[in-house]
Amino acid sequence: MALWALGLAILFNAAFRLIGIAEGLSTGAIPVGFDAPHYFEHLPLTLTHLVPGLLFVLLGPLQFSSHVRQQWPLVHRVSGRLWATCGLLLGVAGVVMNKWFPPVGGPLKYWSTHLFGIALVMCIALGIAAILGGRVDRHRRWMVRAFAIGLAPSTQRLLFFPVFAVTGRIDEQVIDVVMSVGWVVNVVAAELILWRASR
Ligand code: HEM
Repeated sequence: MALWALGLAILFNAAFRLIGIAEGLSTGAIPVGFDAPHYFEHLPLTLTHLVPGLLFVLLGPLQFSSHVRQQWPLVHRVSGRLWATCGLLLGVAGVVMNKWFPPVGGPLKYWSTHLFGIALVMCIALGIAAILGGRVDRHRRWMVRAFAIGLAPSTQRLLFFPVFAVTGRIDEQVIDVVMSVGWVVNVVAAELILWRASR
């Protein structure tokens, strides 16, 4: 439940963008107020990020539910394959978008997005390799890290509210700091969870 709640910010953002894209496709014109025309210019890339992104955030909590794993192991396996595929797609597309799209924020935002996009893909690849080798604990650890990274865009959006309330600013430096801190907060939280679980 808590994981879905944390994902709400990015889910709303994704739904908002997808509705704008659907409206644009149905009318043949970019909707008034849709501030990111490059999403239409690179539509397959954008959809390869947004649709798997939505599924990744929605399915993630199911994958980490011990109840689901124990009661319905087949659901965990089938939905896990979809979840991992979505994570790989959204991560690769996110890195390409970061490179191709007009910059939002400064160099820190750019390089941290690149770094954590690649880290997401690597964590999922390592998680898949672990389960193929029968190493369940290692698999769980890499997938916890992957989901923490995938949920970071939600943390970043939530962080903007208090930061804006205090500073009254959303400029390049604020975006740089909030986006980078958002990644780090989630990764540190994941490591703490894993450390506590291992004790
Ligand atoms: C490591 C994971 C991720 C990376 C590297 C990443 C990267 C990006 C990049 C580069 C953009 C273009 C706008 C910008 O430059 O900030 C973007 C936009 C977006 N991403 Fe992701 N993303 C990730 C995870 C996710 C997830 C899990 C979702 C869930 C749905 C998501 C949803 C979105 C949405 C909704 C936008 C549009 C933002 C807007 O302009 O309103 N992203 N992402």
